[in-house]
Amino acid sequence: MDYQKFIQEQIEAIRNAVGDDLAINALSGGVDSAVVTMLGHRALGQRLRTFFVDNALMRQGEPESVVKTFADLGIAVELIDARQEFLDALRGLHDPEQKRQAITDTFYGKVFARLVQQTGAKVLLHGTILTDIEETVAGIKRQHNILAQLGIDPEKQFGYKVIEPLQTLRKDDVRQVARLLQLPPQIVNRIPFPGPALAARIVGEVNSQRLEIVRTATAIVEEELADSGAFQYLAVLLSDKATGIRHGRREYGDIIVVRCINSTDARTATVVELPWEKLHRISQRITAIPGVNRCLYDLTPKPPATVEYV
Ligand code: XMP
Repeated sequence: MDYQKFIQEQIEAIRNAVGDDLAINALSGGVDSAVVTMLGHRALGQRLRTFFVDNALMRQGEPESVVKTFADLGIAVELIDARQEFLDALRGLHDPEQKRQAITDTFYGKVFARLVQQTGAKVLLHGTILTDIEETVAGIKRQHNILAQLGIDPEKQFGYKVIEPLQTLRKDDVRQVARLLQLPPQIVNRIPFPGPALAARIVGEVNSQRLEIVRTATAIVEEELADSGAFQYLAVLLSDKATGIRHGRREYGDIIVVRCINSTDARTATVVELPWEKLHRISQRITAIPGVNRCLYDLTPKPPATVEYV
C-alpha cells in the first residue's frame, strides 16, 4: 500500500466533504484518533476543533498527557469534562452490550451533539478502522464507534455528518501512516486501548469505585510490561469475589485478571509466555491494592476469547 498517496487522498477527501464548514473530532490519544487529528488539521487547519472527552473511563493522567503531547505538536486540544454524564448513563447496568450502548448514546447523542451545536460544526471526523467494522458486522461485539453499519444515520439521528478516513486500514497500516505523519513514537507505538476505555475491562457495573481499582491495576500492568514488546497488555476487574486473607483476617475481595497478548491486527491473538518472576511481581503489586486479594493470568488466545472482557 502507498501510504503517502493514502495521506494525500484522505486530506483531499476531508476538504471536499467539509467544504467551507467547520468540523470537530474527538482525540483519545490512541493512534487511530491521533492520525485522524493530524489528517484533519492538515486538511482544515483552524476549521477543525479537536476535543478530548473525559468520560471518567480513561487511564491515570491520560487527559493531561494527551493535551500536552498535542500542544507540543502545535495542536490545541480542548478538554471536556463529561465524567458525571457517563457515570450516570452506566449506573446499574451489568449487561455488556447495554453498557456499550449507553456509552455510544452518551458520546454521539449527548456529548458530540452538544459540541456540534456549540461550535456550529457540520461534520465529525472519526477514527473507525476496518477491524472495528468487521467485528461489529460479524456480530462479535458492537464496537462503540460503529454507526452506519448498524443502520444508524448520524445526520438524521444526531444532526451531523460522520467521516471515517481510516475505514480501509488495519492497526498495522494506521501505525505506518502515523509514522509518515511524524507523530511521536509514544503515539505511533501506543498499545491499543478500546473506545469504551476501562468500561471494556470491568465485568458488571461500572462505577467510580470499581473504576479506581481497575485504573490502579492498569497502571501497574502497563508499567511492568512496558518493555515486554507485546502487542497489548491490560488488567480486568471481575464481578465475582473470592475469599482471601488480609492482616490475618478473612477478606472477601476483588479479583483482577492480567492479560498480555501478541497480535498483528487484533483479529487473532496469542498469549505471551511471561517469565514467572514478572508474573509474581505483578501479582504482588496488584494484590497490594486495597480490597483486591487475587490476581489471575489469562491463558486464552483469541479466538475463542476476545481481547477485552466486555
Ligand atoms: P476485542 O476485545 O474485540 O478487541 O478482541 C480487539 C482490539 O480492538 C481494541 N478495541 C476495541 N475493543 N471495543 C472493543 O471491544 C471497542 O470499542 C474497541 N476499540 C478498540 C481492543 O483493545 C483490541 O486491541
